[in-house]
Parts: sequence; C-alpha cells; structure tokens
Amino acid sequence: MTSSIESLVADWDGEALVSHHDGETGSWMFIGVHSTRLGPAAGGTRMRVYPTPADAVLDVLRLAEGMTLKCAVAGLPAGGGKAVLAVPELPTGAVRRELLLRYGRLIETLHGSYRTGPDMNTGPADMDVIGEATPYAFGRSPGNGGSGSSAPDTAVGVWHGIRASCAYAFGTPDLAGRTVLVQGAGGVGTVLVDLLARDGAKVLVADLAADRVAELERRHGALAVDPAEVVGTECDVYAPCATGAVLSAATIPALRCRVVAGAANNQLAEPADAERLRAAGLLYAPDFVINSGGALHLIGTEMLGWDAATLAGRVAGIGDTLTEVYRHADEQGTTTEVAAEAIARARLGLAP
Ligand code: PHE
Repeated sequence: MTSSIESLVADWDGEALVSHHDGETGSWMFIGVHSTRLGPAAGGTRMRVYPTPADAVLDVLRLAEGMTLKCAVAGLPAGGGKAVLAVPELPTGAVRRELLLRYGRLIETLHGSYRTGPDMNTGPADMDVIGEATPYAFGRSPGNGGSGSSAPDTAVGVWHGIRASCAYAFGTPDLAGRTVLVQGAGGVGTVLVDLLARDGAKVLVADLAADRVAELERRHGALAVDPAEVVGTECDVYAPCATGAVLSAATIPALRCRVVAGAANNQLAEPADAERLRAAGLLYAPDFVINSGGALHLIGTEMLGWDAATLAGRVAGIGDTLTEVYRHADEQGTTTEVAAEAIARARLGLAP
C-alpha cells in the first residue's frame, strides 16, 4: 500500500475521518463517518493488524460506505460509519482494556454521530468496556444492558439469504444435499455451519485456525478445506465469512461455484468485479444486503425497541430483499451489486 492517506480520502464521499494515534500501544484509531443522512452513523469496531496505517484507512473508508448502503437497504434509521483499531498485535488483559477506554473517550467526542458495535476481533465484552466511556456502543453483554452478540443473527440472515439465492439459482431453497463452502469459522461462520448442517447441506469449511475447523468436523462431519484451496474448490454455494476482497480479477475465473453468498463485508476487490461475476454466470448476493442481520439485531433491538418476533421477521426479510435484487438485476440487465445500490440510493434520496 503506497497511497497517501490524503489521496485515499480525496476519492471518498463521506463526512468525516477521525484519526488518533495511541502512543501507549503504538496503535492507530480511525473512525469513518460516511453518512448521517438517515440517522446516526452506525458500524462496528474492527481490531486488526494492518501492514500500514494507510491500509487501515482504506479499510475504514470502504467499510463505512458499506454500512451506509447496508442500513439504507435494511430500512434502518441509521447512517453508515465504521472504526478500525490498527494494533501492532491483538492486545489482551489490561492493555486491551485501557486501549478500549481511550477509544471509548474518542467516540464520546463525536456526541453520538458515530455509534459503534462489534466487528472482526471485537465482541460484547469489548463493548462493555467501551460502554464505560461512552453510551454509544451497541452490543454490550445482556447482563450489562446490551443486546449481546450480533453474530448469531448475522448468520441467520446469511442462512435466509443462501436459501433465497438457491431458490433463484436452482429452483428450490432446500439445502439438503447442497454443497456449501464456508470460508472463515469465526463468530458468524461457526453459527452458519450449524444452520447449514441442520438442513442436511454438505458443508465444507476453511479457516486459518485449524482447531476451529477440527471442532466443526467433530460436531457436524463438516469437511476441512485448505484455506489456500478455497477458490478452486467445487461447490454449489461459496460463502465468504472472513476478510473482504476475496472476489477479484484473479479469483473469479477460478471459482467453481454457482452462487456466492456469505457474511464478509466488502467482498468485491473493486467495483468491476460485480460485472466479472455476472459475466461468469455466478449469482452474487451483495454483501451489504445479505449480512445486515447484525445491524438489524443491534439497531432494531437497542435503538428501535423491537421484540424477538419483530427482529426475526426482519432478519427473514433479507431473503425477500435478495430475491427482489436478483429480479431487478435480471430485468435491467445489470449486476446484482448495481441493483442493490439502486435500492439504497432511492432510500437515501440520491439520484439513481
Ligand atoms: N459489524 C457488524 C456489521 O458490519 C455489526 C454492526 C452493525 C455493528 C451495525 C455496529 C452497527 O454489520
């Protein structure tokens, strides 16, 4: 990554980028507020080791934009934001706690225009700590007044999305006997494997952490796939549930699936990849549509006071929204990404 931070921001149409260097840990904190058009900017906090601070900035800018689209398509009165804590190594114990408290105080300076929640490598326990410094943290643990982990509802939403995608591609939502490759056995991927196995799908799992894969093999007879072999592995549905940019000019020609439908944010390496997928005859579930279950859980429960039945209904609606996206894309001869963005732009009151 050689781009300067200035040039990255120059290509971004968001509202604010907050940058803070944490001298104690040698970390950078970046908060991207992409849009507050529909409400306070909502989006999780990702903790990760990045090659350079510019890589972290690029990630936060793209992720924040994705949240604007996600909240708009999901019909939530929230805008889009995201934060990354670019750490030299994942901290634990007191070092982690102190870092999160300093980060919570940074969020507090934004007076609620950015509201955080869990994301990659953060969870309810971290939100509890951030919540000591600011009220603007979704997803604290239930014992502490929060709605708990958003990962299970994200997985349920992806499961509805996979069923809807299979109905569109194969004529039936039934997953019995379908081969589904889940890339990433983290908080979301693990629950997704449980749901798919319950339906009688043949589940393949890849993760860099061999112990997580071994556990799923034991539990469900899921088959392990070498993380380096994911792209060339034959399956009906490929479900990326780890990092982004897995769909690119390099990987798309080598994919051996019919449907791409998973939980990861920012799955396309660049906008042109949506057309590459279409040209290759692959049905792609736009990430910001299929992975909105977590946002529905956090914002619906904590900001809008939804009960469990309302939440479950809205999460199931992810499947219907995807079907609508697929129909529009076919009718208009466009990509599913463009069709989904059009729904978001209409909700945001932006020109098509
Ligand atoms: N990080 C999750 C996502 O990308 C969940 C989340 C949603 C966190 C909304 C905060 C706010 O959707």
